[in-house]
Amino acid sequence: MTRSPTVPEKWRWFPEGRYGLFLHWGPYAAYGRGEQVLFREHLDPCEYEANACAWRPDHYDPVLWAETAKKAGFKYAVLTTRHHDGYCLWDTATTDYSSAKQAPQRDFVREFVDAFRAAGLRVGLYYSLLDWRVPAWFEGPEVDAEAWSSMRDYVYAQVEELLTDYGDIDLIWFDGVWPRTREDLAGDRLVARIRELQPNILINNRLGGKDSGDLGTPEHHITAEDRIWESCQVSTWRLWGHTIGERWRSSEKLLDMLCECASKGGNLLLNVGPQADGQLPPEFVTRALEIGEWLDTHGQAIYGNDGGDVTEFITRGWQTTVDNTLYLLIRFWDGRPTLRLADLVTPVERVELLTAGQPLAFEQQGEELFIHGLPRTQPTPLFPVIKITCAGRPTANQWGRERLWNGDPTRVAEWARRRGETVFATK
Ligand code: GLC
Repeated sequence: MTRSPTVPEKWRWFPEGRYGLFLHWGPYAAYGRGEQVLFREHLDPCEYEANACAWRPDHYDPVLWAETAKKAGFKYAVLTTRHHDGYCLWDTATTDYSSAKQAPQRDFVREFVDAFRAAGLRVGLYYSLLDWRVPAWFEGPEVDAEAWSSMRDYVYAQVEELLTDYGDIDLIWFDGVWPRTREDLAGDRLVARIRELQPNILINNRLGGKDSGDLGTPEHHITAEDRIWESCQVSTWRLWGHTIGERWRSSEKLLDMLCECASKGGNLLLNVGPQADGQLPPEFVTRALEIGEWLDTHGQAIYGNDGGDVTEFITRGWQTTVDNTLYLLIRFWDGRPTLRLADLVTPVERVELLTAGQPLAFEQQGEELFIHGLPRTQPTPLFPVIKITCAGRPTANQWGRERLWNGDPTRVAEWARRRGETVFATK
């Protein structure tokens, strides 16, 4: 069973929050072909720059973003302050290539940070180390040491601004270290400086080097780590930045990812690419709010949970736990009145269909739990949740812990032997 790793008090908000909003937004949104259109289509860099400077998202309203995010149940948000194209969304002294100096004449990062903080959400800043405009980044320190060190100073100065001028930042989310290394960047020095500036900050694991950082960030997949982690996922099929004609994952698919992360003891950082005009795409808002409504009723099974997967449950859905409570998040509702849960050894005190606030009859026969009185009709179009209050921490027997692929295989042999002579098979 997955349990959340012990984390210092100052970082508790992260595993407790479980659900973050990732925002990929910059002048690339105007192309409507993802955040990497400049590079992937190897566009003319001068033309791109001219378009970027003219980009003016008049409908950027981070107060509305934050209200939507809050309603949708997100507990924190991470904004791309600069992506690989090098355009800065804040008022930096290091370059004029920013929203503050170009058409918008606004410090988008400040507005974001203020709005999200005011809404009670934690704030994270994404920062791409890589900048496609700088040859030295790709040639490295060997070719032109001076160009390299001025490039590095530039990065350091920008990070310093972001972590000095915007109050407490909860998470810094580096990306794009390729093809450089932690050594090239003097990553240890950068980390030391970040800790000085923001003693409580979380630093993700993309500064290069093995296992660096405070948290894991599996991308496009959900894989548990033995430290705090968040899986970053697109809400569309493929791209992070706004993309015209992109396909959208359904709300049940998005919720399913959140439940899977929670059950494996991690977070979901769910991405949206706001439109060029600054609005969140309506397709996203609809889905996010549907999940938010589900969380209003079922959030106790997600937030602050200790992971789950207590017993084998893949035939029905996911499990999470909070202290002595086991939650069954039912992906597949079969409409039958009774649900049998095998392998739970802890005495059960109470069972409730959380979705309907309805107590349910139950009986425990040895290590089998039978829950009765379930409605034929699925009580929510998303995942119904059954809340099982136990007398202690929900614990499974050996079968529940080891499943098919772990532990002593003779356990399976004993079970197979129970067929006796009744079925035709060899010994
Ligand atoms: C990848 C992509 C980048 C995106 C990031 C999000 O590193 O290069 O475009 O921002 O994933 O995790």
